[in-house]
Amino acid sequence: MTALSPARTAPPARTRSGLMRAVLFGHGTVGGGVAAALPAGVRLDGVVVRSRRSGLPRSVPVFTAPDEALALKPDLVIEALPGGAQAEAVLERAVALGCHVVSANKEVCARRPDLAARAREQGTAFLCSAAVGGGVPVLETVERLAHGGQGLSRVRGVLNGTSNFVLDRLADGERLDDAIAAAQAAGFAEADPGADLDGRDAACKLALIARTAWGVDLDPAAIPARSIRDLPAGLPAKAAREGRRVRQVAALARAGDGVHAGVRLEVLDLDDPLSRARLEGNCVVLTPETGTPLILSGKGAGRVPTAASMLADIARLVAERCR
Ligand SMILES: NC(=O)c1ccc[n+]([C@@H]2O[C@H](COP(=O)([O-])OP(=O)(O)OC[C@H]3O[C@@H](n4cnc5c(N)ncnc54)[C@H](OP(=O)(O)O)[C@@H]3O)[C@@H](O)[C@H]2O)c1
Repeated sequence: MTALSPARTAPPARTRSGLMRAVLFGHGTVGGGVAAALPAGVRLDGVVVRSRRSGLPRSVPVFTAPDEALALKPDLVIEALPGGAQAEAVLERAVALGCHVVSANKEVCARRPDLAARAREQGTAFLCSAAVGGGVPVLETVERLAHGGQGLSRVRGVLNGTSNFVLDRLADGERLDDAIAAAQAAGFAEADPGADLDGRDAACKLALIARTAWGVDLDPAAIPARSIRDLPAGLPAKAAREGRRVRQVAALARAGDGVHAGVRLEVLDLDDPLSRARLEGNCVVLTPETGTPLILSGKGAGRVPTAASMLADIARLVAERCR
């Protein structure tokens, strides 16, 4: 499981100073928001970026070599780098060094379940609430349902804010390239939006949900996904004229010993809760084994909601340390 509950996370080791010493990897959209609002009890000892520039904290050492920052032996590594080899190497080293980890990185966290497993074995935290839902507490709620007695049988959600933003723009008659450029200008889409549009980002989020709910490790690359790039031209606008909406729907269902997962493009009626996710919004319907479905919705991307989710993970760690 990737997001550890307070009850199941071993208390962090106390540092002599009484403060949790942290290094922040990445000071972009998300990392910049985290640096600006770190809770009391955390001392930022370093920030790692690709290149020094204006707008970085002045009171904290800035590194461009991750190893130099890890040599500080921080208690906590806060990772807000783009997905990929650099982030993977940082998370590997952080876990190997026995650091607590808070990450926003769905791609690496989904693909490398061994990192969370090793952290759990050694009693350090590996938290990635921001990796699913941005500011919407998806993993936290999945954990509560799955381990609080109600169980979880099905998940259906709009989990990728960029895709939803693009689909809404297409519904207004915009061209795909223009819709993607608008998502990039708004800070939602990565320079390469392929993972968002092709459903790979949503597949990573499904893998993290399945792990949190059922302890099952799905290979995100093996989850079938349909790409918005293959959508027939004009379909979102046609659906809108008919009072319906095209949505990228990520779905998980537990059946017997197995878990079915897929990312589809569906034309939804307006009474479907997922049709109500607008622009970069996320919406998830969690169906427990007992009880009524829960619907979560909110901002799925952007600096403030995503940083708030990481900050909540960090605050959890600090609170446990004070117990
Ligand atoms: N943006 C969102 O709404 C959102 C939502 C949920 C999750 N996330 C996840 O959060 C993570 C960060 O996203 P972001 O939007 O904040 O990205 P971003 O704005 O592009 O910022 C990335 C940061 O990482 C630094 N960086 C990039 N490559 C590096 C390297 N090789 N070595 C050292 N530093 C490097 C960059 O340095 P420079 O400043 O020098 O360029 C920048 O500070 C990603 O995993 C993303 O998937 C983002």
